[in-house]
This record gives sequence, structure tokens and C-alpha cells, in this order.
Amino acid sequence: MDVLVVDHPLAQARLTAMRDSRTDSASFRAALHELTTMLAYEATRTFKADTFPVETPVATAVGTRLANPPLLVPVLRAGLGMADAALSLLPESSMGFVGLARDEHTFEPRAYMESLPGDLTGKPVLVLDPMLATGGSLEHCCRLLADRGCTDIVVLCVLAAPAGIDRLRNSGLPLRLVTAAIDDHLNDSMFIVPGLGDAGDRQFGGM
Ligand code: PRP
Repeated sequence: MDVLVVDHPLAQARLTAMRDSRTDSASFRAALHELTTMLAYEATRTFKADTFPVETPVATAVGTRLANPPLLVPVLRAGLGMADAALSLLPESSMGFVGLARDEHTFEPRAYMESLPGDLTGKPVLVLDPMLATGGSLEHCCRLLADRGCTDIVVLCVLAAPAGIDRLRNSGLPLRLVTAAIDDHLNDSMFIVPGLGDAGDRQFGGM
């Protein structure tokens, strides 16, 4: 599994704002929005483009557009904060949704919502979730996509833990990972350390 760490200084500055416990919800959401734009920009660098003629005021030039716009899949709740930025950058995209909540005791994901096209054959998919901790949630989501015939999944994360990367790598699913950082470890509550806390709560408030 390919892993790309986007170490651009502007991306790292947004990540720093998200890590800072003094950052309020509005500023946290703004930093996540901007960081997602940068992650999606890097993730789509290798996407294929079609060419077509475009008339400038002077002459004909070669224009380009994405050959196969992706399906965007934010993982609710925390991934919702990445959806708008990704859709703005990729306005030709369509969007599906997966709702997952991690059980506080078993740490396994519980699915509560699934709204995806039935057939994803030949469709690239960008999965949006700020946190890859144990990897249970993203493995579950990517398996739903693979079960529908998807063979080209890119996962966009803000933070990844080594355990989660290992789990996705061992899953054998057809995916690559784009993240702003790989953190040190998971604590006993399966939170990423040093991390940024709970990305859902920090955007939307506690449940
Ligand atoms: C968080 C996060 C990921 C998941 C990561 O969501 O947004 O989806 O946990 O953990 P994992 O890699 O160990 O599965 P959570 O279940 O807290 O739900 P929320 O997005 O509604 O806050």
C-alpha cells in the first residue's frame, strides 16, 4: 500500500492549528477545510486527464479535464468536515456517505448509515476521514467499496497511527493512503498520540 505524507509547510501549519487544544471549533473546522484542499490536491496529482481544444481570445490551446471524476465518500461524522473542501476542488464528483461510530469498549466500528452506488466498477473513490487510529473504521468503509467492485480507493486522512496503517496494509484492499502526518502510537483508549483529540467532537461538540 502506497502511503503519501503531505509535508508541505502550509499543510503542516493547518495541522498544527488542529492539534492545538486552544483552537476553538470554528477555527478547527476552517483548518480542516484548508488542509483537505491540500490533501486532495496532492492525492489527485496522478489522476488521468482528457485533453480537448479550448479557444483562448488569441488561438486554440489544449485544454484538460479529469477523465474520470471520483466518488467522494466522507465517513460520518468527522469526515463531514472534509466533504465541502473536496467537492469544491472536484466539482464534477459525486458523493456517497458512510456513517460509522467506534464502540467505546471494543473499539470496533458500528455502521449506522450507508448510502453508496450499487456498482463502483471503474470508479475511483476518495474516502474522507480525518483519523486513522486502529484502522477498523476505514477498513470497514473500504471493504464496502471493494464489495461494490471498486479497485481504486484513495483514503485521505489528517492523522494516521502506525497500527492503522498496518491494518489497512494487511487488509489486501486496493487502496493508497494520503495523510498529513503519521503519529507515534495509540493510547489505552485507542486515541492517536500526540494526535489532536476527537476530530468529531472538536468540530461539532461532544455527544
Ligand atoms: C473516529 C474517526 C474515525 C475513527 C478512527 O470516529 O473519525 O472514523 O474514529 O478510529 P479507528 O481507526 O480506530 O476505527 P468516531 O467513531 O469517533 O465517530 P465520529 O466521527 O462520529 O466522531
